[in-house]
Amino acid sequence: MPDSDSNPPPNPIYQEIVDALVAMHRLTDGYTPSHEDRTATLCVKIAEHLGLPRERIDVLHMAALVHDIGKASIPLALLNKPGRITDEEYALIKTHVQTGYDILSKIGFPFNLAEIVWCHHEYLDGSGYPRGVRAKSIPLESRILTVCDIVESISAERPYRKSLGMEAALDEIRRLSGTRLDPRVVEACLQVVAKDTAGDQSVAA
Ligand SMILES: [Fe+2]
Ligand SMILES: [Fe+2]
Repeated sequence: MPDSDSNPPPNPIYQEIVDALVAMHRLTDGYTPSHEDRTATLCVKIAEHLGLPRERIDVLHMAALVHDIGKASIPLALLNKPGRITDEEYALIKTHVQTGYDILSKIGFPFNLAEIVWCHHEYLDGSGYPRGVRAKSIPLESRILTVCDIVESISAERPYRKSLGMEAALDEIRRLSGTRLDPRVVEACLQVVAKDTAGDQSVAA
């Protein structure tokens, strides 16, 4: 088992700081914190499926809850804009990752929460942003967060469009598996969602 198995759980003060940041963000954006919340729930299920130690799962959960906090700097009219966006607008939206890292790295968490957030749009093949780093520089927690972010974004209803459905979301992560996304995480996600779906059906039956 990894050495970090013997690490203590994160001090509860850090969860309180994260909760305060989320509450602040929710005052101005009614959508993004809910997206982060659903993404965080899926992250935990996948991390548990992969057997991560509890304290790493706790840190991943906190990171996922604030992974898009940098969007507080983007006009809501752009975040919620239906239809196509311009290259300039996309470039502005992409700044949310660095902004989020700059905010979170000020807190001095004694674990890699800010780094996990920094890498949540990076891809294994180096085609992501903001730095275009490759696999070896992307923590496992970020790889999990990236997959869950994609699944949540496609399968959930957005302010500017209806849900595209879970099947479309799973097709997309299958398509990107092994190039942009970690195949082990994609496989875990497919299994977790299949198990959840089976559970839902057995409850409904
Ligand atoms: Fe993001
Ligand atoms: Fe996100």
